[in-house]
Amino acid sequence: GQGWPGIVEAYRDRVAVPEGAEVVTLQEGNTPLVFAPYLSELTGCEVHVKVEGANPTGSFKDRGMTVAMTHARAAGMRAVICASTGNTSASAAAYAARAGMGSAVLVPEGKIAMGKLAQAVAHGARILQVRGSFDDCLELARKTAAAYPVTLVNSVNPVRLIGQKTAAFEICDALGTAPDVHCLPVGNAGNITAYWAGYSDYLAEGRSDRAPAMFGFQAEGAAPLVRGEPVSDPETVATAIRVGSPASWNGAVTARAESGGLFSAVSDERILRAYRLLASREGIFVEPASAASVAGLLATSEEGRLPVGSTVVCTVTGHGLKDPDTALADMAEVRSLPVDPEAVATALELV
Ligand code: F0G
Repeated sequence: GQGWPGIVEAYRDRVAVPEGAEVVTLQEGNTPLVFAPYLSELTGCEVHVKVEGANPTGSFKDRGMTVAMTHARAAGMRAVICASTGNTSASAAAYAARAGMGSAVLVPEGKIAMGKLAQAVAHGARILQVRGSFDDCLELARKTAAAYPVTLVNSVNPVRLIGQKTAAFEICDALGTAPDVHCLPVGNAGNITAYWAGYSDYLAEGRSDRAPAMFGFQAEGAAPLVRGEPVSDPETVATAIRVGSPASWNGAVTARAESGGLFSAVSDERILRAYRLLASREGIFVEPASAASVAGLLATSEEGRLPVGSTVVCTVTGHGLKDPDTALADMAEVRSLPVDPEAVATALELV
């Protein structure tokens, strides 16, 4: 291959894989860090958006999956299993296909976006739709992996989070140091844990002169970290972060405390407003869960909790194409026309 080799090769000294292992990669990582002029104007900050939808399967999960799958194959495993709100399953299915391994995915029935289900189907995963929540699925996946020869590739597998640290490295490498504030959507809380570990590594090694305050945002109907206790029936339009009992609870709490950050809840209405704003004003199409980071940015700015003049990075975690139903729900009536230039001109009010 040519160009960017994927996160394991690019960060060899930081992302360990077993001696002699052949890396399972789709050349994930090296995603754009895009300056956001409109968000900067609204907040009085310098806002950049880390576009993780640009990864091979359209979400940040690929950074961890390349590492987890490399370990699993090197250990001689034939199959992997995961629970997912959709993106982990899409990534696991793709990387398993690449590795020549099998995959089984447990998803909450009726609660995952269509694009993600399509990916799991296309990559040949065994898809099990569970009549329960993501939290139920994770418990089932853990029990299955404990009893049978399949590797669990959820972020409770620690090598996943080592791979996900590389997003923080890329941001520091691009900006020359860490931002002042980093905004993330939080579901199972692996990603905020991984980012904080990545920023901490760079700070300790003098590769950056600061570490950001970590701002973690949850959907109002699925905000266990904000409430301080698990939520038994989480609900939100942002299905990717519909998680009631985050596996990396302690990691998230440590990230917030050590960084001087915050957790806050954003309503579905605010999430959808940020979702539309990102697409219509910044040209960046993300899935609803990803827009929680930007909804939170705008809310904390309005509340005066975001120091003006800060350098801010918002991670947008997954591509908008993952969830076409949410986008199409906003669609105005679309005109039907004959093959006629005059009809086009009339429809566009050019005459
Ligand atoms: N954004 C998206 C698009 C996600 O898919 C997820 C998690 C998150 C944010 C939250 O990240 O869990 O590390 O706090 N999705 C998991 C999944 C739960 O199964 O795909 P987190």
